[in-house]
Amino acid sequence: MPLKLHTVSTIEALRFQVNAWKMQGLRTALVPTMGALHEGHLELVRKGVRLADRVIVTIFINPKQFAPNEDLATYPRDIQGDLDLLENAGAHLVFVPEGEEIYPNGFSTKVLLEGPAQAGLEDRFRPDFFGGVTTVVAKLFNMANCDYAMFGEKDYQQLMVVTQMARDLNIPTTVIPVETVRGDSGLALSSRNAYLNDKEQKIAPIMNQTLHAAASDIRSGMAIEQATIKAEKALSAAGFKPDYFEARHANTLAPIKAKSDPIRLLTAAWLGKTRLLDNIPV
Ligand code: PAJ
Repeated sequence: MPLKLHTVSTIEALRFQVNAWKMQGLRTALVPTMGALHEGHLELVRKGVRLADRVIVTIFINPKQFAPNEDLATYPRDIQGDLDLLENAGAHLVFVPEGEEIYPNGFSTKVLLEGPAQAGLEDRFRPDFFGGVTTVVAKLFNMANCDYAMFGEKDYQQLMVVTQMARDLNIPTTVIPVETVRGDSGLALSSRNAYLNDKEQKIAPIMNQTLHAAASDIRSGMAIEQATIKAEKALSAAGFKPDYFEARHANTLAPIKAKSDPIRLLTAAWLGKTRLLDNIPV
């Protein structure tokens, strides 16, 4: 039987509960989210449940990672639906803070990374994004002080950035990657898929198909640049406006230099007013 799900909104209450569990020798896993939860988020929770004794989910739409022209105001919100899903997935505690709890008046710090945060992928198109993500994730790691933190491969560059940050800042939380959860069509689940109209929903799975076609081209010996240019053209022909389609070193996100480098294909593209991203290994 899952324990009943508790909801807290203050850092003090979060710390109190996590400390109590730690005193009992229980292992804890953190799942940071912005809500509007779907099976992808729930897979993070389920993997947390397998790995640790208590799973803490945070729901906070972090204003610092949205640029002024982005979708902060319209980002989907459904707290009651989220809590029902989390209870069923076996989470133990949900932290749902107000904005002032995270960024009180006078808040002055920004956590900024180089390396994977400046790989020329998401950072090229969303220059303020990772500063916002690392600032809030560093805070959440410090507040929750968990043994593990679950992050999806869906946001591959974010996963690399957060892993690097925890290492660089000696944060005693181990970042655990979780494979991308997809719909039957292959489309990676995303809260932003809710923005797609009927026509766009039919086109969206072509992003993942194009990634697989490029991976297969590279495995069959096509030059990487040729394969990624071909893929970008295929996305455009299907109705996307690609931001990038790149092959990168799977661990560092640096450009591919050696034949033996492990390759990750990463893409982001607009479909109408929705920005989709996806990635796969070669
Ligand atoms: P959000 O987009 O809500 O995603 C929360 C976590 O769920 C991230 O680790 C993301 O990679 C993972 N996730 C989303 N869709 C997934 C899918 N289809 N399969 C597997 N995992 C998936 O990412 C953020 O929020 C924010 O940037 C955050 C880290 C919470 C900081 O504000």
